[in-house]
Amino acid sequence: MELINPLVQDYAEKFSSAEDALLKEVNDFTTQNHPEHQMLSGHLQGKFLEMASMMIRPRRVLEIGTFTGYSALCLAKGLTDDGLLHTIELRQNDAATAKGFFNRSVYKEKIILHTGDAKKIVSILNETFDLVFIDADKSGYIEYFNLIFPKLRKNGFIFADNIFFHGQAIETEPTGKNAKAIKAFNEFVNSRTDIEKLILTLRDGLYLIRKK
Ligand SMILES: C[S@@+](CC[C@H](N)C(=O)[O-])C[C@H]1O[C@@H](n2cnc3c(N)ncnc32)[C@H](O)[C@@H]1O
Repeated sequence: MELINPLVQDYAEKFSSAEDALLKEVNDFTTQNHPEHQMLSGHLQGKFLEMASMMIRPRRVLEIGTFTGYSALCLAKGLTDDGLLHTIELRQNDAATAKGFFNRSVYKEKIILHTGDAKKIVSILNETFDLVFIDADKSGYIEYFNLIFPKLRKNGFIFADNIFFHGQAIETEPTGKNAKAIKAFNEFVNSRTDIEKLILTLRDGLYLIRKK
């Protein structure tokens, strides 16, 4: 399902700041070489992540699902001087691609890349996070939320991506495994009273969650 009118998307991209040179390279490289290139956040969502990070000025950021590194490079832009961003990627090949781009970034020393299953790695991170971006396997979202929540500071934020799951998660009875998982996550988030929440109709839907 085409969720955003292409004319609106083009207009919004035209009237938003362009990607910087390294982000453009990550985007172009991924589009030309990766069979799952549509997973990359892209220009508008990337710019939103950058803007939000600039507003929050996080000291500790956690990203679940690095892919080729695009969103991590956007989120790193708002880090404080002593800030660090932990990003976790399951697949060795994608982690190696992301590492190559991180090494060429001014945020090289601030981005800590972990390769492996986020469900194991999050548990051993001894940090208090200001901002978390969940963008990995859809069936894990509720588990990620539960693992992260105790490590999130009061007034800290969780952003969760693909909340419409290409339009399938808003169906009354979705059939796909991932669409069902996202629908269950959305209902789980919506039922909680210890958070404030907002779904942004950006790209495939982005849940913004603040811990009260
Ligand atoms: C949608 S992509 C991430 C896109 C990236 N955040 C961006 O905006 O460019 C999801 C990534 O999560 C990774 N992933 C899936 N399951 C994972 C797990 N259990 N632990 C860590 N990473 C996982 C996938 O290999 C994939 O690269």
